[in-house]
Amino acid sequence: MRVLGLESSCDETAAAIVDDGRLVRADVVASQHEVHAAYGGVVPELASRAHVVNVVPVLRTALARADVSLDDVDAIAVTRGPGLVGALLVALQAAKAIAWARGLPLIGVHHLVGHLSAIYLEDDPPPMPHLALIVSGGHTSLVRVDDHGVVLELGATRDDAAGEAFDKGAKLLGLGYPGGRVVDELARDGDPRAIAFPRPMVARDTRDDFSFSGLKTALLHHVRAHGVPEGAALADVCASYQAAIVEVLVRKTRRAARREALGHVQVCGGVAANSALRAALRAAGDEDGFRVHIPPPARCTDNAAMIAAAGYQLLRRGAVDTIDLEATASLPLPRRGAA
Ligand code: KG4
Ligand code: ZN
Repeated sequence: MRVLGLESSCDETAAAIVDDGRLVRADVVASQHEVHAAYGGVVPELASRAHVVNVVPVLRTALARADVSLDDVDAIAVTRGPGLVGALLVALQAAKAIAWARGLPLIGVHHLVGHLSAIYLEDDPPPMPHLALIVSGGHTSLVRVDDHGVVLELGATRDDAAGEAFDKGAKLLGLGYPGGRVVDELARDGDPRAIAFPRPMVARDTRDDFSFSGLKTALLHHVRAHGVPEGAALADVCASYQAAIVEVLVRKTRRAARREALGHVQVCGGVAANSALRAALRAAGDEDGFRVHIPPPARCTDNAAMIAAAGYQLLRRGAVDTIDLEATASLPLPRRGAA
């Protein structure tokens, strides 16, 4: 079963060809970071326009790299949300057009279920059930994964996502957009104990929820008081800021793993590419006795291979959509304790 995956929910236009939900034959991502860098964040209208320009070339490149044609594709998986509606629509319309013209099954994929599927492209993926920490530019959630696409959200951020905290912090420090990776790199030479940034929401009664907007404000106060740091001071600020985000994510994840008695934890989404988070979670797993599964960095950030992998699993369960599938901006995961 060969699935073509398409993704355009935010600022990456991506196409991938994946065989049997496992073997990646092509994985092409066109990033628009230069388009948005000057604005310090994604400009939705510019994102949509760039997707329109990129979608067909990205698709053609994926087919060429996989050395296949549309005749060799068995199904089309596409992100249906959440994301920017004008952006989502581009891959969705392309997917619908191909599915209709070729008479192929169309499978709408929840973007976060896509992130959760990236690890199934690797050797030794986590068994079901397991715990997942989803940390992206738009979402921060602790999720119990019972099966492919069968998830229960235990907690989520009440304001900024972890990736947003990285990006907004980087913007305050004049490091451009998206800033997570730059902070990660600069932090390697810094002292994570140099500045005592707050560790928000680590109290037990906040359960599995997160809050990162106060951290950004603490950084703003620091910059107002001391100016925008440079050189070694900049590395120290990056390391200390990153350490605050990572410590909160790790403490909540290990607490949830213990309470849910889950021996396997996966981490996915763009912030899962963060080297400090990867190291801290692996160390926590070694100490507490849970196994940590993290995709390689390029499969943590947005890509279409993960969408194809998720689509394959949905197709196996017969979850095929019709041609009137819609793009949906907000698509909350089912939440524990909610009606
Ligand atoms: O999953 P993703 O590509 O897009 C969304 O679905 O949001 O995540 C993008 C986010 C951005 O906030 C970016 O700054 C962050 O992931 N990110 C990182 C790193 N690489 C990407 N954050 C921290 N450290 C990194 N190495
Ligand atoms: Zn994403």
